[in-house]
Amino acid sequence: MQTAGGPGTIEVAVCPPRKERSTETGVDGMKGLRFYIETFGCQMNEQDSLRAGYQLARAGCLQVDSPAEADILVVNTCSIRRKAEEKAYSLLGRFRNLKGRRPDIVVAVGGCVAQQEGESLLERLPQVDVVFGPHHVSEIDRFVERRRAGGERFAVVSQKTDSVDDLECPGISDPKGLKAFVTIMEGCDNFCSYCVVPFVRGRERSRPYHSLLEEARRLTEQGVREVTLLGQNVNAYCAPDRQGFRFPDLLAALSALPGLRRLRFTTSHPKDLSRALIECFGSLGPLCEHIHLPLQSGSDRVLAAMNRGYTRTAYLEKISALRERVPDVAVTSDMIVGFPGEEIEDFEGTLEAMRIVRFDSLYSFKFSPRPSTRAASLEETVSEVEKLRRLHELQDLQKRISLEKNRALEGKFLEVFVEGGSRDGEQWMGRTRTNKIVNFTGPAGLEGRFLQVAIREGCQNSLRGAIAERSVNPEESPTRLSE
Ligand code: 5AD
Ligand code: SF4
Repeated sequence: MQTAGGPGTIEVAVCPPRKERSTETGVDGMKGLRFYIETFGCQMNEQDSLRAGYQLARAGCLQVDSPAEADILVVNTCSIRRKAEEKAYSLLGRFRNLKGRRPDIVVAVGGCVAQQEGESLLERLPQVDVVFGPHHVSEIDRFVERRRAGGERFAVVSQKTDSVDDLECPGISDPKGLKAFVTIMEGCDNFCSYCVVPFVRGRERSRPYHSLLEEARRLTEQGVREVTLLGQNVNAYCAPDRQGFRFPDLLAALSALPGLRRLRFTTSHPKDLSRALIECFGSLGPLCEHIHLPLQSGSDRVLAAMNRGYTRTAYLEKISALRERVPDVAVTSDMIVGFPGEEIEDFEGTLEAMRIVRFDSLYSFKFSPRPSTRAASLEETVSEVEKLRRLHELQDLQKRISLEKNRALEGKFLEVFVEGGSRDGEQWMGRTRTNKIVNFTGPAGLEGRFLQVAIREGCQNSLRGAIAERSVNPEESPTRLSE
């Protein structure tokens, strides 16, 4: 694990550890520079930011936690909804003041807004030096160096179609070295009519399974116990280096890694949730009993207009099949309200689907027209006020369901992976295999332990518990305690 060190610097956990990374990239003139990264959006962006940080750290730079201390400011943007985009612009506005005081600062803008806007960002925002698309994150150190060496301001937003080099990763865990994300594929070919992702992240590209396995193996050897596989559409994974090797095969291969206690993935598309994938649940020990399966709408008419490729009934059948196999599987989802043409009956259909499925939790959004997408050219028929009303009604229903589901866990014993706690070691926080947060009290030194916790109280967004007598040793082989 590498610690950047120094006042106000941030810890970056990297595998392999620092001593094995003695040869730095050789980007001259970067040593000792301080960088600050701010990230908007999804876990893919979080992962890209870790990669950018890794790359800059390799060039000898130090990460800091305040923009005012930095020589390099990186903004990793999200354009999934207009609000996310606006947040990035507002931050860049603040960076304009910093740059006004210190013109030598390099401001680099990455992520989906960078990809979408390209050079026009340079024209509109004089404080921006470098614009780079998501396929170029690993080149960040060279971009900064080029600008610092007196080069012109520039944008690099070409998309990669025939290589996955940019997705290759040295294996980066969270700062505590307990959990890690591994990108297995990127891009999306589904073209849901509201979604900007296929335009900014490009077509589906899968990483070779050999390099994935190697990355995950290195992470577990370094002590990582939980791996989350990332991709816009993970069930479309298709190994380029082994014919017929699909996502369920990858899950099986990774589950066999010694030391891996928990395996998760996000996000999967309902239409691609195959029988083979459903069968992985309950049969692969580390595979956690949780699936994030975006439904988006409970109305067949709206689902067709969204180009989702499934009906409500087909979705419900997949959930039933999943629950037949693993009755206590947690299901979370995404929902959009106010899609163009959504009538009140369509919205009622969404609420009804929620009552049938009873999601454990739900991310819900007002429809937001996005550039290049088909839905952006549809007439908006639902007013902002009505979108907000529907959103609140949906969220109220979900709050009730989440609370009821969490209360139903009271009295149960669940395996909790302890992620962190308060400084004095009194208050601890961990997660169940179903990805629910559990708060409990306990002695110091519990971080990274797997404990059995008795659930005392189910709240809306978390559980409260007490450590049970019988707790689990982290070195034991993976088992489901509830069995
Ligand atoms: N408007 C509103 N929500 C959107 N999402 C994606 N695009 C849009 C949009 N244009 C939501 C979907 C997706 C989640 C990541 O963001 O629910 O699953
Ligand atoms: Fe966007 Fe649809 Fe692809 Fe998900 S499946 S990333 S919503 S286009």
